[in-house]
Amino acid sequence: MRRPLIAGNWKMHGSRDSIGILLGGLLAQKLPESVDVAVCPVYVHLDQVVAACSDSDLRVGAQDCSHVDQGAYTGDVAASMLRELGCHWVILGHSERRSYHAESDALIAAKLAAALAAGLAPIVCVGETREQREAGEAEAVVARQLRGSLEGASSAAGLVIAYEPVWAIGTGLTATPEQAQQMHAFIREQMTGLGANADETRILYGGSVKPDNAGELFAQADIDGALVGGAALKAEDFSAIIAAA
Ligand code: G3P
Repeated sequence: MRRPLIAGNWKMHGSRDSIGILLGGLLAQKLPESVDVAVCPVYVHLDQVVAACSDSDLRVGAQDCSHVDQGAYTGDVAASMLRELGCHWVILGHSERRSYHAESDALIAAKLAAALAAGLAPIVCVGETREQREAGEAEAVVARQLRGSLEGASSAAGLVIAYEPVWAIGTGLTATPEQAQQMHAFIREQMTGLGANADETRILYGGSVKPDNAGELFAQADIDGALVGGAALKAEDFSAIIAAA
């Protein structure tokens, strides 16, 4: 039985004041014991969020990390530094990093190795664009991303995959529960082929998850939770999604 994970990706949003209010709303409620919950703010808010969550079960993650542990890499942040700060999770290979920062599967694999070496729990994102889906290439794209991004680490304990179809991110267009389930089942099959204990691998869905569609997504056999963007910025909506898991 896989334990659901609901992770909020706050992307580049918020100020110290606004996230203080958001956290206040989240921490005012008791988290269900059967669900893992995480929030992932920008680097410069991590200290504030880690401190606020120290007495709760809410875990904190970063949105990226460097592929190396130390050195002349201006602007980068090492996985070990994030761990030292109190992060538990790290999101890797988000489509916004793949597209705006030209991150390749090979770079993501190097980041994954660095994250694991530092003791961070990685959430590796994969997903096709609208054009790729329309061309019938969705499965081939996701299979290639999994192979490349997980190179050398596909059987790592605790590895989490997030399927985020690019066309569903921030657009209000959610994959139907059937579309999402089909891809999640495909990802699980691929993970077996890559040597992972796929029955235990958590596969999250991401892309316009909201309180009103979360329940039917989570009812699918291979959907083990969600990576939530916009709806994670409202305590009420994020709590409703957690409750649906
Ligand atoms: O990582 C979460 C994400 O990309 C989905 O964003 O705003 O569509 O929930 P959103």
